[in-house]
Amino acid sequence: MVNYKDLGLVNTREMFKRAVAGGYAIPAFNFNTMEQMQAIVQAAVETKSPVIMQVSKGARNYANASILRYMAEGAVAYAKELGCEHPEIVLHLDHGDSFELCKDCIDMGFSSVMIDGSHLPYEENIALAKKVVDYAHQFDVTVEAELGVLAGVEDEVSAAESHYTKPEEVIDFATRTGCDSLAISIGTSHGAHKFTPEQCTLVNGVLVPPPLAFDILAEIEKKLPGFPIVLHGSSSVPMDEVNTINQYGGKLDAAIGIPEDQLRKASKSAVCKINIDSDSRLAMTAAIRKHLAEHPGDFDPRQYLKPARENMKKMYIHKIVNVLGSDGKLAIQ
Ligand code: G3H
Ligand code: 13P
Ligand code: ZN
Repeated sequence: MVNYKDLGLVNTREMFKRAVAGGYAIPAFNFNTMEQMQAIVQAAVETKSPVIMQVSKGARNYANASILRYMAEGAVAYAKELGCEHPEIVLHLDHGDSFELCKDCIDMGFSSVMIDGSHLPYEENIALAKKVVDYAHQFDVTVEAELGVLAGVEDEVSAAESHYTKPEEVIDFATRTGCDSLAISIGTSHGAHKFTPEQCTLVNGVLVPPPLAFDILAEIEKKLPGFPIVLHGSSSVPMDEVNTINQYGGKLDAAIGIPEDQLRKASKSAVCKINIDSDSRLAMTAAIRKHLAEHPGDFDPRQYLKPARENMKKMYIHKIVNVLGSDGKLAIQ
């Protein structure tokens, strides 16, 4: 049993309280590789931002759970080495789908877990989330639960249709589970293809997707004043990265994300954690494709992973400073 506090990690409780009060959101970036981890830490240190590094079940399968945990421990040391004396780094399980998986992560040093029972019947979702909360809170690990279903398909997360969160359920759900934060469904979805062109409106040659359901968010905030709300599926799918990928041999048709002005607006509300994974994948792939197309003789991974890491770091900094507003928000600067 390893406690996250011994690894220099923090849970989400204090940072969420400050984020809700301050009208900004904490970035939650997924990582699977060392380059993603390095880019996240560099971006967080340069902007003096708290950060959530999250690991999916797919990431554990790809990279190995222990390796990712040691990488997060390394992230704390790396942040200090880069000059940040008091980093606030959360190691979070993304979309945990069972009590056993959550327990395993808590036991190996995660400071926060998500139990995603959103696909289950309501009472089963509550029972599962409560079981995880009861275990996690013994070790001061914070728990995110989800109510409402997001559409989208990725390695381990899939649902054909989205179902918005019902505001009339949130008080009962939060009270009975004891969860520390609540992921809701208001129109975001996972992956790089969040909307079909038919769902969008053409404005000045750009496909603009339908707005998020801010009315539902407002109702939820009214029911649970100050309670930390989480948005999954919040990549913006930048057109310049999609165009670079397609220019250098890729084929990403109709990739459409959540416009950044929608996320900026959400960040000012009780939404205090915004999940971004696909934008990192796009930034990495675009840089690698471009580098290899321009340098066909290169075969040392460091030659193309270095620009990939730089491009991800640029994207992370942009999100922190220009979208979520978490820059300069470390408790101790
Ligand atoms: O929401 C899901 C995350 O983007 C993780 O995706 O399961 O393919 O690692 P993954
Ligand atoms: P994106 O696919 O929009 O990046 O969402 C990631 C996410 O929600 C991780 O849990
Ligand atoms: Zn998600």
